[in-house]
Amino acid sequence: MTETLLYEKTSEGLAWITLNRPDVLNAINMQMRDELWDLMHAVRDDPDVRVVIFKGVGNRAFSAGADISEFGTAPSYVEARGARRDRDLWGFMLSLDKVLLAAIHGFALGAGIELPMCCDFRIASEDVRLGLPEVGLGYIPSAGGTQTLPRHVPPGIAMTMILTGDPIDAETAYRYGLVQRVVPRDRLYSEAEALARKVLAQPAQAVRLAKRAVVEGIELPLAQGLALESRLATQAAMR
Ligand code: COA
Repeated sequence: MTETLLYEKTSEGLAWITLNRPDVLNAINMQMRDELWDLMHAVRDDPDVRVVIFKGVGNRAFSAGADISEFGTAPSYVEARGARRDRDLWGFMLSLDKVLLAAIHGFALGAGIELPMCCDFRIASEDVRLGLPEVGLGYIPSAGGTQTLPRHVPPGIAMTMILTGDPIDAETAYRYGLVQRVVPRDRLYSEAEALARKVLAQPAQAVRLAKRAVVEGIELPLAQGLALESRLATQAAMR
């Protein structure tokens, strides 16, 4: 547990990370990014954790995005360092061989939806509003959103969301494939846990190798992707 995050290992193989700044709708400030950076490294190094579920504290938001009170306040070198760390954090999350799941409710804006886009599955409650308001504020998404969103939804939809800033609702997000399940608010965490348990019931090494095949393969031309799959399949067979 840190000042901005709650961390809980609840049962065999499963950990929960809760964004915990309820007074500001779990806005992601530099401190939370730094604490996430440290926590995600601890997760990587913990063989007991195989699946992580992210959630946000409070009733109103998973996260309202980057902390706008910090915009323009940091000295430039600190900003530069922050931006670098920013990229590293999201890239680091994308490179982890743990399974990451986001259970999203209420507002998930800016980095508040970019963080879930660095996860493997997204489950939403019916009340979600998902959007990228950065361009309207004179910035561009910088927690990976310009790159991850068009990999999750059709490019034209991604462009519309990025250039208009208009949030989408749960049904629309499901239709585009941005979230994989929509559930009533009171079942959000039980459904997320049930999905986590399904993955945990699978053989650990096969899950790790299959995730790697998908994540690394998606960036490759098909022939190289098939070669990667073949190498990983050999490893899976060598148990
Ligand atoms: N950064 C810092 N503080 C934030 C925040 C953010 N991204 N989003 C909300 N807050 C704070 C508000 O300042 C407010 O604090 P206060 O009670 O001290 O005034 C509190 O969280 C509640 O937000 P409020 O705006 O009063 O709630 P609302 O229901 O009227 O509106 C939102 C909810 C999410 C529509 C609105 O808060 C919003 O637009 N937030 C900014 C979203 C954004 O642009 N994020 C991306 C930045 S790139």
